[in-house]
Amino acid sequence: MTISRRRFLGLTAGVGTAATGCSTATPTSTGQLLPSRITLPRPFTVPLPPMPVLRPSSASGGRDVFDLVQRPATLEVLPGVRTDLLTYGGTFPGPLLETRSGRPAVVRHRNALEVPVSVHLHGGHTPSTSDGYPTDLVSPGESRDYTYPMRQRAAMLWYHDHRMDFTGEQVYRGLLGVHLVRDDEEDALPLPHSDREVVLAIVDRSFDEHGQLHYPSADAGAGEHAHHHAESPGIDDAHIEGVLGDVMLVNGAAWPVMEVDATRYRLRLLNGCSSRRLDLALDPPPPAGAMFTQIGSDGGLLTTPVAHKHLVMAQAERFDVLVDFSKYPVGTQVTLRNRFGSGPMGAVMRFVVARRASDDDSAPADQLPHRLSEIEPLDTTSARVREWSFTRGKVHGRPGWVINGEPFDPEEMAATVPLGKTEIWRFRTDLHHPVHVHLDPFQVIRRGTSQGPGPFDHGWKDTVDVRPAEHVDIAVRFTDYKGRYVIHCHNLEHEDRMMMAAFATT
Ligand code: C2O
Ligand code: CU
Ligand code: CU
Repeated sequence: MTISRRRFLGLTAGVGTAATGCSTATPTSTGQLLPSRITLPRPFTVPLPPMPVLRPSSASGGRDVFDLVQRPATLEVLPGVRTDLLTYGGTFPGPLLETRSGRPAVVRHRNALEVPVSVHLHGGHTPSTSDGYPTDLVSPGESRDYTYPMRQRAAMLWYHDHRMDFTGEQVYRGLLGVHLVRDDEEDALPLPHSDREVVLAIVDRSFDEHGQLHYPSADAGAGEHAHHHAESPGIDDAHIEGVLGDVMLVNGAAWPVMEVDATRYRLRLLNGCSSRRLDLALDPPPPAGAMFTQIGSDGGLLTTPVAHKHLVMAQAERFDVLVDFSKYPVGTQVTLRNRFGSGPMGAVMRFVVARRASDDDSAPADQLPHRLSEIEPLDTTSARVREWSFTRGKVHGRPGWVINGEPFDPEEMAATVPLGKTEIWRFRTDLHHPVHVHLDPFQVIRRGTSQGPGPFDHGWKDTVDVRPAEHVDIAVRFTDYKGRYVIHCHNLEHEDRMMMAAFATT
């Protein structure tokens, strides 16, 4: 170990954010900036890495079987710098999985790490035993088959670690990946595909002077090595607001650049940050037409395309958007900005419009079918209303985060919800708390004082951006699987400091 805890705290104290109290490093996110201690690369010099794809090891018997080994790896995340990571299959992020709606998939995880893990398929309609309950651990050396019936529509899901008390740290150190579900309905639409469908997994991270990921674990010093055994739970007391990195990574590369043809692209966006909210926009904006045409959200296709001039994305949210680079002259450099960030964090990546294209078989945004898909509006007449408040609170005498005043207890069901019954769940907050519900997607019915959902709440959602002192009503209906599931804040430091509640479906 080379950095003492004292030195670590001394260096981070300069950020000017109080350790406790109502501090936020930026008013747009709840969290504290952790400055890197290494020279950062110049933006827009590294090419966007292709997403590694994991093919099934077997596709017989009507189901796809994937094999993934969770193991430590040392990778070049920043150019010329070696960083120890916890990985799915040796890459960061983990490999892209693609499965078909209605066709079961089994992901066989072997844990070759030195820490316990639990795998959650975020957005998956998954039986409880494969949902990655925080205490349902796969110990080092063990294997586990996670079974996904895939009785759900096409959507961009993502998988990540969900270990009790350590989700923030283990995801930060690399345990996340993207999982696309496909179906015939989506295949039939004239959307950009192949090389022109691009998954962009955005995360922020900080690096210490040795190029290692900088995460303020409670277990002083243990976080120096990717293969450590942490003993005390999660984040240290000084960083429970959340961890904001100062390096933007897209598909594991810092502020990358991607050459595009002057034509239409489909971008599948994930905000995989622990605590950072994003507000994405293209700079310069296209001279004509929509900046982003949203066609899908967390839970798949919208009913109709929606034009946006920017995209606010809370942690864990996904947006499926079309961008038309044919509106730009060849040679234009188009920066994907984060309007919530300043300095280097005000940018995400860059596109360079490199050449004309003559082979585009996708439809322009204004010629897409007006009806992309059908979404049955959940009927909330006579729905039971349940309130969930997300606030700061004491967790066993230490500072933390609570739901309805209670810290997470994995053995205690905060609610018992009958399958098939639509309920209204009302979320109230003190600070920024993106709320995520397992098992089934939901529909946002009301945000704040408005009579309806906000501009970024369209379609089936599984995570909703609830801002300080806001209330959001959703309609949710659980189906198929009886068991125990969780609802939690997707600021992962809040989650690890107990902003989670269990519910049972019956
Ligand atoms: Cu993406 Cu329960 O988490
Ligand atoms: Cu989830
Ligand atoms: Cu929170």
